[in-house]
Amino acid sequence: MANVETIPGNVLNDPAQQPTKPRILLAASGSVAAIKFESLCRSFLEWAEVRAVATKSSLHFVDKASLPKDVVLYTDDEEWSSWKKIGDGVLHIELRKWADIMVIAPLSANTLAKIAGGLCDNLLTCIVRAWDYSKPLFVAPAMNTFMYNNPFTKRHLEVISELGISLIPPITKRLACGDYGNGAMAEPTVIYTTVRLSFEPRSTNGGS
Ligand SMILES: Cc1cc2nc3c(=O)[nH]c(=O)nc-3n(C[C@H](O)[C@H](O)[C@H](O)COP(=O)(O)O)c2cc1C
Repeated sequence: MANVETIPGNVLNDPAQQPTKPRILLAASGSVAAIKFESLCRSFLEWAEVRAVATKSSLHFVDKASLPKDVVLYTDDEEWSSWKKIGDGVLHIELRKWADIMVIAPLSANTLAKIAGGLCDNLLTCIVRAWDYSKPLFVAPAMNTFMYNNPFTKRHLEVISELGISLIPPITKRLACGDYGNGAMAEPTVIYTTVRLSFEPRSTNGGS
């Protein structure tokens, strides 16, 4: 379990611990596509230092035990258990400071709506609500076609685009529920490649 001493943002003040790899904050929300979160973490570990955030709903799909040992997973439990008194670090702020890039994959319809509306009632949405938009934030939506085609989706995607959030579009295929259509999360390799290609030209911290 994380405590304030292990919150990665605390290394920011120690030049000896400055990273040589980009720091990627991977976040999963409650889509069935979160079963691919482990694979996504492994892809990014080839290149980056990875921390992970999971919503309560996503934990129905993420197998915590299967995550690579180098990936620390933070949930709402750690958000609250790491804070005891005034002066302690606040996890969503520390993670926001720590990350060079945030990637939300999968992005559920619910979390999309909350981000578009500025709501922040869990660790993931608090990080986004505090986000510094000079740093990249990618989202890979994943939802049933009926949800994806609902007018709210278009509306919410337009709002987050205006904020500077980058969309990794969903794909059309046979969905987990058996329906066929658009809304499936982009493949982890595509998400990884998209983020890496976008970051490398601006990389200044020695990441390979
Ligand atoms: C089996 C199951 C699969 C689900 N799959 C999706 C999905 O693919 N995309 C989605 O947006 N919501 C999906 N949902 C609904 C979300 O889990 C629900 O809206 C939840 O509140 C999302 O919470 P979060 O955004 O905080 O993670 C699914 C629900 C269940 C029970």
